[in-house]
Amino acid sequence: MSQNALYQSPPPPFGHQMRKFFAFDPDYVNINHGSYGSVPIAVEEASKQYYALVEGNPDLFHRFTAIDLVRDARERMAKFIGVADKDELVFVPNASHGLNNVLRSFIWEEGDIICSFNTTYDSISRTAQYIADLPPNPIHSPFTITFPTTHAEIIEAWRAYLCSLNETRAQASQKLGRRPKIVAIIDSIASKPGVLLPWKEMVKVCKEEDVWGVIDAAHSIGQEQDLNLAEIDPDFWVTNCHKWLFAKRACGLFNQHILRAPFPTSYAYISPNDRKGPNFVEQFEWNGTIDFVPYVSASCALDFREWLGGEKVINEYCHRIAIEGGKRLAQILETEVLDQDQDFQFTLNMVNVAVPFPPTISSEFKIEMAFRKKLLIQRKVFPAFLYHSGKVEDFEYLGKAMLEACKEILEEFGDGSEEGAPITNQMKKLEIVNDGSD
Ligand SMILES: Cc1ncc(COP(=O)(O)O)c(C=O)c1O
Repeated sequence: MSQNALYQSPPPPFGHQMRKFFAFDPDYVNINHGSYGSVPIAVEEASKQYYALVEGNPDLFHRFTAIDLVRDARERMAKFIGVADKDELVFVPNASHGLNNVLRSFIWEEGDIICSFNTTYDSISRTAQYIADLPPNPIHSPFTITFPTTHAEIIEAWRAYLCSLNETRAQASQKLGRRPKIVAIIDSIASKPGVLLPWKEMVKVCKEEDVWGVIDAAHSIGQEQDLNLAEIDPDFWVTNCHKWLFAKRACGLFNQHILRAPFPTSYAYISPNDRKGPNFVEQFEWNGTIDFVPYVSASCALDFREWLGGEKVINEYCHRIAIEGGKRLAQILETEVLDQDQDFQFTLNMVNVAVPFPPTISSEFKIEMAFRKKLLIQRKVFPAFLYHSGKVEDFEYLGKAMLEACKEILEEFGDGSEEGAPITNQMKKLEIVNDGSD
């Protein structure tokens, strides 16, 4: 059926009936939407029409058609997330790419501070460390969130933490004769664990404390409703459309106020002295040859989502399933969900449930790999894991699979108690993050 005909028909109900609009293997129980997303068949079909244009005339597509298509998609996305100026929003391949662009574009000086969280996505906190390892060696300072906690506690701790960084900065200013900068990388929705953080309030505190705020919003678009970036006004904000929005991989968005030049450098780069005005969009339009269809597919994904009923309807359903599914899974595993708040202030569409391992179990990667294999390859279901302090029937399937896998892991690897493995967490050590789609 063509997309036009499909979108004229009534949308299917949520739940298992929705599966036929996705290309999942019939025996795979998809419970993890946060890692790589999944592309609806309708978005894939719409994208094929663009691939026909690419291969029909590669020169025409890359020299003209792609520019217009990407520009239209960018404008639509700018409205969708409420940016004040559409020309401060560009596509990037993914969140890692966008965040690296920001972090490596600062001119780092002695005494500067780059701040990440213990919940920051590994490759992003590693980026911060890499920057700290290069001369002039800015200080990499960690901010720690320990669960259970509340949004109010996080904001209070964040304010106190930035105040203390400002004291460090004041001392350095006296010594250096200039004011070092502080750059904070803040998750809107962290993935380890999968929690909504009070990032809007944290951005406000950054402004009060004169700290640059770089928002890792990899999980925001398509999951966080009513985004209004013009109002929140973060310095930098980067999201992934290929996670929750249903765009093809790789498709990210990058909103900014000041950036000198993207990586890779574009033919459109102009030395600051020669610039007559901003050319941010032009610089991001061509950073080497890539597949532009995923960028255009973000707009196709919005068509599909509108057909399903829009952001509110989709996200209310996914949120409900995450809450109900998380409870059911914890019941089966005889453990607990991480978010114990009555209003589930940390929970959007991802839920965190403790795994029934003793706290002594080793945190070696081989255990996680064994767990991955036992679930993903042998039992065809996969939740994301981390070590930390479908309907519900899909969660039930997951619960049963996990119980079996846990038992096998303990038989094969032991519980670590004889080796005296370190206890780094008050909760069971291995936790899962999974989403509410079924
Ligand atoms: C919080 C967070 N930030 C950044 C990323 C990186 O996304 P990508 O691999 O698409 O660059 C991820 C990936 O899961 C993530 O969870």
